[in-house]
Amino acid sequence: MADKNFDGIKIRNLYKIFGRDAQAHVEAVKKGLTKTELNERFGHILGLKDINLDMPSGNIQVIMGLSGSGKSTLIRHINRLIDPTDGEVLVNGVDVVKMNENELREFRRHQTAMVFQKFALLPHRSVLDNTLFGLDVQGVSRSQSIDVAMRWIERVGLKGFEEKYPNQLSGGMQQRVGLARALSNDAPVLLMDEAYSALDPLIRMDMQTVLLDIQKEIKKTIVFITHDLDEALRLGDKIAILRDGEVIQRARARTSFCARRTITSRTSCGR
Ligand SMILES: Nc1ncnc2c1ncn2[C@@H]1O[C@H](COP(=O)(O)OP(=O)(O)OP(=O)(O)O)[C@@H](O)[C@H]1O
Ligand SMILES: [Mg+2]
Repeated sequence: MADKNFDGIKIRNLYKIFGRDAQAHVEAVKKGLTKTELNERFGHILGLKDINLDMPSGNIQVIMGLSGSGKSTLIRHINRLIDPTDGEVLVNGVDVVKMNENELREFRRHQTAMVFQKFALLPHRSVLDNTLFGLDVQGVSRSQSIDVAMRWIERVGLKGFEEKYPNQLSGGMQQRVGLARALSNDAPVLLMDEAYSALDPLIRMDMQTVLLDIQKEIKKTIVFITHDLDEALRLGDKIAILRDGEVIQRARARTSFCARRTITSRTSCGR
């Protein structure tokens, strides 16, 4: 289960500029050069601008925003699939930006798990083998990993399906495997980039319920990206809304009508 001493995720003054000479432009962006100007004058793309977010341990942090607003860019900084142009990404107090290759490999194996929109299951492996994949990579013994995997397979409602293959399962069931695989790692951080966006609405709501139920028990630090406002309001302890690479609204969720106004009117509601 999640480590009670885990200090969550803190993102500090994070900037990402895409392009060959990104570093050369960061000062100008800090001084106010806009995304459009950066693109038109210098052919670089502003992915993220001065992101500051605190994601406390045990919370679900939802990231919302229109297509191209920087959601995936942001979540990929947390396990450093993307290197920032400037800023800090502190996970449990350690800046992932400063990790060397070995530290980063260990960090990714043990501290983070991901659930993908397109499930990313291995087609020639059974449900059980897909679920224990991360434990294999961690070097956990087979007998132990089978125990852990079976527990999560049952917990996500797939008991009896462990010998099936992904193509024998519906989309919703495949995503249950994706979730079981991620949870088997027992990493304190769970990263979910539009994990439910490919699912039918009813299945999607089922999966939200599964996640909320499990979260009561495991209290991971979850970063959940979605386009869907109802999903955001249902799942999020905190919601941040991105536009053009900037956080334009943040709210404690489950009460946030402000978030609803912001996303639908495309203007900040200034609270
Ligand atoms: N490797 C890259 N090179 C250049 N520009 C990029 C790269 N990756 C992302 N971008 C740009 O950064 C911005 C943010 O993209 P990102 O994929 O993070 O958006 P998103 O909010 O996840 O969108 P979607 O909802 O469509 O998934 C966009 O303008 C995008 O074109
Ligand atoms: Mg995306």
